[in-house]
Amino acid sequence: MGVNVSIKVRKVDVRDVDIAKTLVYLQKQCLPSDSIYDIKKGHWWLAYDEQMFPVGFAGMVRSYNFFDCGYLCRAGVVEKHQGKGIQKLLIKARERHAKKLGWNWLISDTTDNPASSNSLISCGFKLYTPSSPWGFKHALYWRKQLYAVQRPRSKKKKTGRVLEKILRGE
Ligand SMILES: CC(C)(COP(=O)(O)OP(=O)(O)OC[C@H]1O[C@@H](n2cnc3c(N)ncnc32)[C@H](O)[C@@H]1OP(=O)(O)O)[C@@H](O)C(=O)NCCC(=O)NCCS
Repeated sequence: MGVNVSIKVRKVDVRDVDIAKTLVYLQKQCLPSDSIYDIKKGHWWLAYDEQMFPVGFAGMVRSYNFFDCGYLCRAGVVEKHQGKGIQKLLIKARERHAKKLGWNWLISDTTDNPASSNSLISCGFKLYTPSSPWGFKHALYWRKQLYAVQRPRSKKKKTGRVLEKILRGE
């Protein structure tokens, strides 16, 4: 399936009241039987159509258990725009940001959701069995190893290594 190029995905600031309202509205619209995820936690994205009308959303929080791991917590695309590759764009945006944050893993879960599972497969996620499963009994668990953007090493550490070499007589 081709990706819809006219869709724009933007990381959004939840302190903006209109953005916050849109995220809550889209959660209710796309996931009517799920509880509303607390948007004050983590990072959020909106997908906009060519008229800059919001048509999808996604969130990512840091994992409770692993400091270098992000959890893809919620996502949804309004029915009219499903099947255009928007969820994959939202996954890729979150992956890029996770790398910027220096995280090495992304995890997620799906339950009875072929579209969501297929989008994770398309983006390179693999099934795995967590040691402490957190979802429904028949949930599927997904993870992807990232290669985080290397941050420049601090001068202090570099100096330390130079000193070590000198002391070793190298
Ligand atoms: C799940 C959801 C986010 C997918 O969004 P989307 O933008 O329509 O997904 P994409 O177009 O990026 O397609 C993702 C993949 O799923 C496949 N897919 C789409 N609909 C499908 C369906 N009904 N059954 C099986 N596979 C499907 C696509 O073919 C694509 O796979 P491919 O890359 O191999 O072609 C969207 O259907 C949705 O909002 N559903 C309701 C809310 C929800 O379930 N959210 C996720 C749980 S938090």
